[in-house]
Amino acid sequence: MVHRFDTLVIGSGLAGLSAAIEASLQGTVAVIAKLYPTRCHSSAAQGGIAAALGNEEPDSIEWHVYDTVKGGDYLTDQDAAGTLCEDAIKTVIRLEHLGVPFSRTPQGKIAQRRFGGHTRDFGAAPVRRACYSADRTGLAMVNTLYEQCEKQPVMFFPEYHVLDLVIEDGRCLGAVALELKTGEICAFEAGATIIATGGYGRVFKTTSNAMASTGDLLGILYSKGMPLEDMEFFQFHPTGLLGLGILVTEGARGEGGVLVNGNGETFMQRYAPRIKDLAPRDMVSRAIITEIKEGRGIGGNDYVYLDLRNVPKKTLETRLPEIMTFSNIYMGVDPSEKPIPVAPTAHYAMGGIPTDRDGRVLITESGAVVDGLFAAGECACVSVHGANRLGCNSLLDTVVFGRRAGMKAAEQKDKSGPGMPPGAMERAREAVSALLNNKGGVRAGAVKKELQELMMDKCSVFRADAGLKAAAEEIETIRQKAGNISIDDKGKQFNTELLEAIEAIHLVNLGEAIVHSALQRTESRGAHCRQDYPERDDENWLKHTFIRKKDGEIRFSFKPVCITKFKPEKRQY
Ligand code: FUM
Repeated sequence: MVHRFDTLVIGSGLAGLSAAIEASLQGTVAVIAKLYPTRCHSSAAQGGIAAALGNEEPDSIEWHVYDTVKGGDYLTDQDAAGTLCEDAIKTVIRLEHLGVPFSRTPQGKIAQRRFGGHTRDFGAAPVRRACYSADRTGLAMVNTLYEQCEKQPVMFFPEYHVLDLVIEDGRCLGAVALELKTGEICAFEAGATIIATGGYGRVFKTTSNAMASTGDLLGILYSKGMPLEDMEFFQFHPTGLLGLGILVTEGARGEGGVLVNGNGETFMQRYAPRIKDLAPRDMVSRAIITEIKEGRGIGGNDYVYLDLRNVPKKTLETRLPEIMTFSNIYMGVDPSEKPIPVAPTAHYAMGGIPTDRDGRVLITESGAVVDGLFAAGECACVSVHGANRLGCNSLLDTVVFGRRAGMKAAEQKDKSGPGMPPGAMERAREAVSALLNNKGGVRAGAVKKELQELMMDKCSVFRADAGLKAAAEEIETIRQKAGNISIDDKGKQFNTELLEAIEAIHLVNLGEAIVHSALQRTESRGAHCRQDYPERDDENWLKHTFIRKKDGEIRFSFKPVCITKFKPEKRQY
């Protein structure tokens, strides 16, 4: 079956929904997603969305831009940061008008709280910039935008897994997908295709990301020889629930929570004397691991405590109800009485599909684009987060750049290509049959596990040459295994084993891109911390990395960082 729409959106998270709403003002839109739409990972976002509303204390757009650039360790493209922060206030007001139930101040304004790296007066002290809906901000936004899509000519195709993007002669013609319910393969032709599939934290063993965050579309582009940008930068959130990686929002520290080591001491004042526990995530994660490595984990173990006992119980109950509930469920801890055991968890990919500020996918570092192809949200690299994203800039990014991509994509609606080439569906069918018919191979779960453990061990918060080289070699072996996955379930309906196999193959591609990108960047910047190159090196590395694989060979090229107002300086907090 071949479907035809003006715009095709792949992914139903906040970037996809924002893009779909905009594009639907000008034409027909299909949203396809491998999950039911409201089960997207955006729904798991807790702490908030950043905007310098100044509802609780003075704030400014300029401080927001500065924090975004400095938080990103000066790899942030400053034109993109300007777009993000200037649009933030309008964005939050628009979301409020659409119906997002933000938490309120006693005066009825949108409430705001502190978050990591959000400061006033260019780093002087923390500022309340995060607008929130208790600790369910993502869920509140997803439900609202999904409702808005239902009012528009947006057609949802839930539980369709994209197998291939069809790109011919420099133009994207749409996608080929597997309908999970039936096992049928179908095509979606479109004048414009927007990739909004979120992150790929499942490449690591411990992650806050949902099971579905496997970066399938990035894997598809990489296997077609297209570039990915800044893949070495992967953020670890400081506070994942011990052993599970489930996020405990930074909003908990924004409300007054503190990190405590095995000696019962707070320790962030030693790493970030001015803003302490509210330093950016890369710094806090490194501080936690350093405490652990130097023997100051709790009981000498691999974790520290997040202590919320000084936060009034009413605040915990009204502003952090999810944290209260799942600390209890998963750890048996009531945060008003006991500290929560936490450790860093893989949280956010700064790298992804290179795009310009209108979401157009770049095929070269000098700005050539793929016609009809767009990307927005975590899967994309604008690059607005540089080497380390600030909390609450992600939800903002999804809506600001999702909308911009939707508007630009809608302009392509009359530029339909020659239609789906006859071989496109057949190629996908053959690839699926090959997987289903392979016998005596390895299980997808085993491939994933080996990769995730390797990435955690050799390419997480701290990295070094020897470990990265070993990881690059081991990934080659894992790739061989991924090429020999076999599947017991030969059924057509909801074949989740098949889905897992396809996801595992993409994850191996992404692991390779991360490790090789990390190996070539011989400096430390933001979330990329090389123990063998501990300093930032602006002379040689103030540039974005483009990695691509052509004819089995990995190649790099580079793109200058856009610097407008804020010249790189030493990052101190
Ligand atoms: O800590 C958090 O609530 C995460 C927010 C974010 O990643 O933006």
